[in-house]
This record gives sequence, C-alpha cells and structure tokens, in this order.
Amino acid sequence: MHFQKRPGSLRFLITAGGTREHIDPVRFISNASSGRTGFAIARAALKAGHKVTLVTGPATHRLPNKARVVKVETAAEMFEAVKKHFNKCDCLIMAAAVADYTVAKPSRTKIKKTNKSLTIELKPTSDILKWAGRHKTRCQVVVGFALEDKAMRARAEKKMKDKNLDMVIANSPAAIGSANSTVQIKTLNHKWVKLPQATKDTLARHIIRLMQTFPV
Ligand code: CTP
Repeated sequence: MHFQKRPGSLRFLITAGGTREHIDPVRFISNASSGRTGFAIARAALKAGHKVTLVTGPATHRLPNKARVVKVETAAEMFEAVKKHFNKCDCLIMAAAVADYTVAKPSRTKIKKTNKSLTIELKPTSDILKWAGRHKTRCQVVVGFALEDKAMRARAEKKMKDKNLDMVIANSPAAIGSANSTVQIKTLNHKWVKLPQATKDTLARHIIRLMQTFPV
C-alpha cells in the first residue's frame, strides 16, 4: 500500500468490549468479547500522540489514562455515545462486539423461577457501524471488524460494502478472549493483506500506522 502520511495528531473514536442486553435487573445476554483489541488500539493511538475517545462496554482492563472514556452497557447506549462523538473524530474504529439483538420487553423486577419453559423475545439493535458509514464526511475514516467462521473474505467484503467502510479487519472466533489474533485487512481499492499471527498490541500498532497514512 502506498499511502501518504497524514499530518499531525488525529482524533480517534474507538469502541471496545461486548454489550449487555438486560433480561431483568440481574440477568443479561452478552458475548465473550474481552475488549482487549479495542483497548490495545486505544493505547497504541495514545502512544502515537493522537487523541482518543474510548467507548467501552463492561471490561476489566485498566482504563487508558489519557483517553476520554465513555462507559456504556447496552448496544443502545453505545449507539448514543458514538452518535454524540462521531462528528468530532477523524477516524472511528468499531472494535466492540455489539449485540445484534436486545430483549424486546426486559422485566423491571427479577424474573421468578417456575417449572414452565420460558421464551424471551429478542428484537434487532441498530447497526452502529452502518449508521457511521452513512453519515461520514469525506474526511472521516470508518473501520469495522468482521468476525467470520467461514468464507471470511467474501463475507467481510460484503460487510465493507453494506456498511460503506474504508477498511475492514476480518478475524475468526479464535481471537475472542485471546492475547493473539490472526487478521486479514482490506482497505478500499486495495487487495487483501493477511498479517502473520501477532499479539493484539502489535496488531493495534499496525492499525494505527495504517490510519496515519490513510488517504482522505
Ligand atoms: N456492529 C455495529 N453494530 C451492531 C453490530 C455490529 O456497529 N449492532 C459492528 C461491529 O462493531 C463490527 C462490525 O459491525 O465492527 C461487524 O460485526 P459482526 O458481528 O462481525 O457482524 P454483524 O454486522 O453483526 O453481522 P453477523 O453477526 O451477521 O456476522
């Protein structure tokens, strides 16, 4: 890839971690995301001298000191936070594992056990990345992840097109919760690049270097 270096410090909006969709006050639906990738990207961006707003679902990692951190719990809250900060960022990186479905009618009180089966109705959440792809200006770069267990490139490219992304980072479920990741990256108008297996910190530095040279 032959990109020109973008001058000065960039404003990154980075999402991390999984969201929680409540069934009742003490139970929720979530996923196995550790938030490690998003936090590593935030640290790498800060280390390279950029400004970072980190929107994170519940995660146990130490919060990066110099970032503006917005803690959220649900997909709807993450959407509100991204909408609030999106127009002030040069680059959005959606590393969060946002729930695709939320509970249609969460109970306000703890659901009591009975001996009957229980059905919970789910309804789709908003696709935050798709919203960002629709609303980005010519100068903003929008990056998404694609977690795929098969047909990785084809499915990730479809997400790239459907969500109007500038870059997609495809990985497999093996990356969830792990310190390492093997990813493939596709940037608009460029071929796929497969990176060797690396720690998520190394991957994060690579992504930030790509963003620093991204053509706009
Ligand atoms: N994403 C999002 N909002 C959602 C769901 C996902 O912004 N409601 C983002 C994720 O942060 C990620 C990208 O979309 O950057 C792709 O997420 P992924 O779970 O791989 O795909 P989905 O679009 O949810 O589709 P599917 O689950 O069918 O693969």
